[in-house]
Amino acid sequence: MHERAFVLAPAAEIAADWHHPLRNKTIRELLAALPSQQCAVNGMRVFISARDAQLEIMRLRTERRSLGLVPTMGALHDGHLSLVRLAREQSDIVVASIFVNPTQFAPHEDLGQYPRNLDADLQALAAAQCDIVLAPSAAEMYPAGFSTYVEPPAVAAPLEGACRPGHFRGVATVVLKLFHLVPADRAYFGQKDYQQLLVIRHMVRDLAVPVEIVPCPIVREADGLAMSSRNRYLSPHQRQQARALSRALDAAERLVKSGERDARRIVGQMRDALAGAGMERIDYVVLADPESLVEKSSLDGPAVALIAAHVGNTRLIDNRLLNT
Ligand code: PAF
Repeated sequence: MHERAFVLAPAAEIAADWHHPLRNKTIRELLAALPSQQCAVNGMRVFISARDAQLEIMRLRTERRSLGLVPTMGALHDGHLSLVRLAREQSDIVVASIFVNPTQFAPHEDLGQYPRNLDADLQALAAAQCDIVLAPSAAEMYPAGFSTYVEPPAVAAPLEGACRPGHFRGVATVVLKLFHLVPADRAYFGQKDYQQLLVIRHMVRDLAVPVEIVPCPIVREADGLAMSSRNRYLSPHQRQQARALSRALDAAERLVKSGERDARRIVGQMRDALAGAGMERIDYVVLADPESLVEKSSLDGPAVALIAAHVGNTRLIDNRLLNT
């Protein structure tokens, strides 16, 4: 089934007419041109109208089938696809969203540079047995006059929240909106964005959103680098340097296993590992409480080690849970 050609409603018509105005258009342009604003890719249904997707999903829910949602910003890699695979195992219907959310980009971050490849993303999602994709436009997600935002929970304040002002307000707002558009039984988030996962769990708890948040393990390249859409920006040399993040986390894990409990000493060794790889811009290296993200000075219970550092112009994050 997966090797079947891309199926688009008017594909035959377009293929038969060399001068067809929709020839050489991107999938998004084609979809926008279709009256239904829907197409199917190897049996997977793709909606660019959030409202239409919501109506269809609400109809499917009346059939009492369980629904899993995988929210993404596209530029999919195997980390994202692992979420889709888990959702596939646990749910009757798997919905993925692809939306590069403008409100979660801090003022100094370049939304325009974020990688986008809807065609490749749709092929990958279809191959991972996703049933429905929602790829709405910014105009529909943030219509003229939009002014309602979610005030994110306290756990959003440190670390990423301090480095990327407004980021979690944008994340919480769009994720809550996605939960309304796609009322899922479960929603899947990667542990690579550890603080984001906590922000969403706390928001769901605080606002009584009826969805189970399923954390999914970090997927790593063979050399340990955590998969990220941003890795594609790295030059071969930077790609080598980037391995230092997971090596620093390995060092922390080794130290804790050998009985070290002084967080300052562990953080010092992690920083040395980053500096040794030539990383000069380090946003943070901390050991924190895994639930509140309050920084720890000594490891008297479970902790999470978190890193954010720049390799060239690319900002990378990674983390590891440490059990004492
Ligand atoms: O993790 C992401 O890709 C995004 O922050 C999310 C959760 C899809 C919200 O835009």
